[in-house]
Amino acid sequence: MPNRFDLPAGFRWGVSTAAYQIEGAVTEGGRGPSVWDVFAARPGAVRDGHTGAVACDHYHRYPEDIELMRGLGLDGYRFSLAWTRVQPTGAGPVNPAGLAFYDRLVDALLEAGITPLPTLFHWDLPQALEDRGGWLDRDTANRFADYTAIVADRLGDRVPAWITLNEPFVHMVYGYALGIHAPGHALMLDALPAAHHQLLAHGLAAAALRERGLEVMIANNLTPVRAASSSDADVAAAQAYDALHNRLFTDPLLLGRYPDLSAFGVADDLGGSVRDGDLKLIGATPLDGLGVNYYNPTRIAAPTDPGLPFSEAPIEGVPRTAFDWPVVPDGLRGLLVGLRDRYGAALPPVTITENGCSTAEDLDDTFRVDYLAGHLDALATAVAQGVDVRGYFTWSLLDNFEWAEGYHQRFGLVHVDFGTQRRTPRASYAWYRDLIAAHRARFAG
Ligand code: BGC
Repeated sequence: MPNRFDLPAGFRWGVSTAAYQIEGAVTEGGRGPSVWDVFAARPGAVRDGHTGAVACDHYHRYPEDIELMRGLGLDGYRFSLAWTRVQPTGAGPVNPAGLAFYDRLVDALLEAGITPLPTLFHWDLPQALEDRGGWLDRDTANRFADYTAIVADRLGDRVPAWITLNEPFVHMVYGYALGIHAPGHALMLDALPAAHHQLLAHGLAAAALRERGLEVMIANNLTPVRAASSSDADVAAAQAYDALHNRLFTDPLLLGRYPDLSAFGVADDLGGSVRDGDLKLIGATPLDGLGVNYYNPTRIAAPTDPGLPFSEAPIEGVPRTAFDWPVVPDGLRGLLVGLRDRYGAALPPVTITENGCSTAEDLDDTFRVDYLAGHLDALATAVAQGVDVRGYFTWSLLDNFEWAEGYHQRFGLVHVDFGTQRRTPRASYAWYRDLIAAHRARFAG
């Protein structure tokens, strides 16, 4: 069986974070409010009333955090830009102090020998755009393209590759269908225009990046879907769920069409949001890489609730993270091989842009080390089975603001004491550092 040391020469090692989850300083440097500032302030929205107002205070402490990255020997760092630092209302004039922050961050990363891999949107939409409809409003896609052009003009001389959106699926489902995340709409299937408008935003932004000679990626949350049994009803339910979770964003990008959502009673104009020419635009700029965020597989059974064509079934008999997510490393291999089989030559090179687990607070971090080792071995097996995977960015460098769970779920290679902001590397930090060094040493000389 191949293992993590068999990953190919030139394989890129990294860590991932996101702006609202680590930066803090939400009213500094001219930053405008995002949907997450407003949502987190709503009583009951986030566990124990936590907010990202301070988070890891990375806005001030980024030099220390880059030192931690340098200590790991990383090739790359995936982070996101807060749109409201760059354009406080999501449109119009640029805020120079906001752009200057990312300028400093990029320079400091390059000085540490780390390639920046920015994500343009990781769920923190300017509140001013939400007030005009957010991702339910088609015009948000145009605003996103303008914002992309602004940051690409400023940072594109030093940043070669860009991720447009993070997990548009999770953002649509949690933010617009279920109301668990900002902006907190519970529209169920009426949320689907938020999918189409995010894809449109991707298409427009991709063109703006390409015009400037930059590489384009997108990162989505994908999950291998298993039917709970071989019954026709369970298999049909699993297919319906797979179309929604895995194909809704990937099919238009790679095949130029939406998957069949008829099991949901949804026509392929997604609630009337799709116009002539949109699908062409969405796929017009070929992706240089597909970002895959993998946490766990999903087991699906026939519906129990008449509103949806599926229900979720538990996965038993495997370890579970602090979040209660099942740990199934081979799911990553299955997911990647399945992507290759489904899309064939249309599948661009893959980068794992997130993978990791939340654990208890302790520093004896055996659980996380086992999690990472298992997933990296599974990844090496997928590569041996012919999937082109170029890099792995673990989630996350630091314990951080875990959305609706506040500070309760800890995903960091580095423990953060949120009272003092003291950073303490966990055992997984040393393990990851040693793995990177050993892997590199294999190909040196
Ligand atoms: C998101 C991250 C999040 C992580 C763990 C992903 O869905 O992109 O922002 O912290 O999963 O829940």
